[in-house]
Amino acid sequence: MPAVITTHGGPTPEHDGKITFYVILCVIISAFGGLLFGYDIGISGGVTSMDDFLIKFFPAVYQKKKHAHEDNYCKYDNEYLQLFTSSLYIAALVASFAASKVCSKLGRRTTLQIGSFFFVAGVVLQAGGVNLAMVVLGRIILGCGVGFGNQAVPLFLSELAPAKIRGALNICFQLFITIGILIAGIINYFTSNIHPHGWRISLGLAGVPAVILLVGSFAICETPTSLIERNQVDQGKATLRRIRGIDNITAEFDSIVAASEAAKRVKNPFHELMRPSSRPPLVIAIVLQVFQQFTGINAIMFYAPVLFQTVGFGNNAALLSTVITGLVNVFSTLVSIYTVDKAGRRVLLLEACVQMFITQTVIGVLLLLHLKPAGSLSSTEAIVVVVLVCVYVMGFAWSWGPLGWLIPSETFPLETRTAGFACAVSSNMLCTFIIAQAFLSMMCHMKAGIFFFFAAWILVMGLFTLFLLPETKGVPVDSMVERVWKQHWFWKRYMIDDDENDNDKVIKG
Ligand code: BGC
Repeated sequence: MPAVITTHGGPTPEHDGKITFYVILCVIISAFGGLLFGYDIGISGGVTSMDDFLIKFFPAVYQKKKHAHEDNYCKYDNEYLQLFTSSLYIAALVASFAASKVCSKLGRRTTLQIGSFFFVAGVVLQAGGVNLAMVVLGRIILGCGVGFGNQAVPLFLSELAPAKIRGALNICFQLFITIGILIAGIINYFTSNIHPHGWRISLGLAGVPAVILLVGSFAICETPTSLIERNQVDQGKATLRRIRGIDNITAEFDSIVAASEAAKRVKNPFHELMRPSSRPPLVIAIVLQVFQQFTGINAIMFYAPVLFQTVGFGNNAALLSTVITGLVNVFSTLVSIYTVDKAGRRVLLLEACVQMFITQTVIGVLLLLHLKPAGSLSSTEAIVVVVLVCVYVMGFAWSWGPLGWLIPSETFPLETRTAGFACAVSSNMLCTFIIAQAFLSMMCHMKAGIFFFFAAWILVMGLFTLFLLPETKGVPVDSMVERVWKQHWFWKRYMIDDDENDNDKVIKG
């Protein structure tokens, strides 16, 4: 059980230390894990809308797409096409449980190395794919890379970062995800005109960051926390001195040792998670990830080119619009880095709910009125849809995107922090899988109604945030129980003392 994950979210005990070049190097290398995750998210939509790819692997979809009077909303509805996109996430879901064990038994660095091996192998299989089985297998192996990477990178970043920049560094993981999505959009834009192997280039170029991550993962250090926890205390101390760039690291070293001792006393963190007092952060962590996905963001991220073609853009214009939404995604994430510790989590989440609810509803109304199964939107209407999608992505990128990862990592007490975070990661993967697998069929059956479906979820999550999500801004991580959960009108009923906990009793009110 890893001892320390993140302690951002408020004042943390200050420890001395510089932001050393070595830390920056390690952060950049490990963040390539986020970039690969983003690249995989962004690349599949473009690839699955390329004719060469469809002709080779999905001839039936290609025929449907080419036929003059095809149904706008249904032309990409093919469960195998969705399987291509979604197989990665189901693999990542399963892999993340294995990764959490490896992470605590063998360390973050080893987990990242295993992840990058998966990434390289998956890229080779995909780019060299000669049949559907081979490309889907490649995607499953990439999914294992994502499972290992997403478990290790946030932990690695948080444990390596000096406390004072820990929050900003955590959101850097999300920033790299968005950069990966953007790069994928740009690459698809160019490769879609390279026939017949443009799609191979798109899938194969993931090899560049994958090799950088693989080679780089041998250059980075293990985190002091992981070393100390695995009884390599002297090495942990030496590493801490190296990454902080100062000699006197006693205070931080002592606090890691204490945290690791406390965590070691908990024999089964998953069992600990079942206690009533673990319920509030566990529910929040899982629900936030479910909500993050049911904003509908990945309907846009995976299928933006498909969606833009649906409303009437040509292939190139659709891919270009995807690049534009990708840029909006990256720059809006920066807004979150600046505001999250000032405005607070709730303000960002609630504001974004209003913004996303309005945009999804307006898109739904527009398509309902103007996009019939045959025909397309006028160019002005199509541009309005792109603008609305951008405003929607903007809202997501400064709220539910980064905070879906940040809040679960700061609300668990130490002894359940990594087990709880693993539950958050796997919930995310499960819901990402569901959206990836179901979106195109849902669009075919629900037509414009799909946008009202997501708008309804956004309303629910807004209400949940309003009534049930406590503000965690400025609260030291290790004071969450006292200052957040025990004070909250609803969640305080689960906060009972340890001896009562043992009897598994729940105090009402
Ligand atoms: C989500 C991804 C999403 C991305 C978009 C991440 O926080 O977990 O599913 O595609 O944000 O930027």
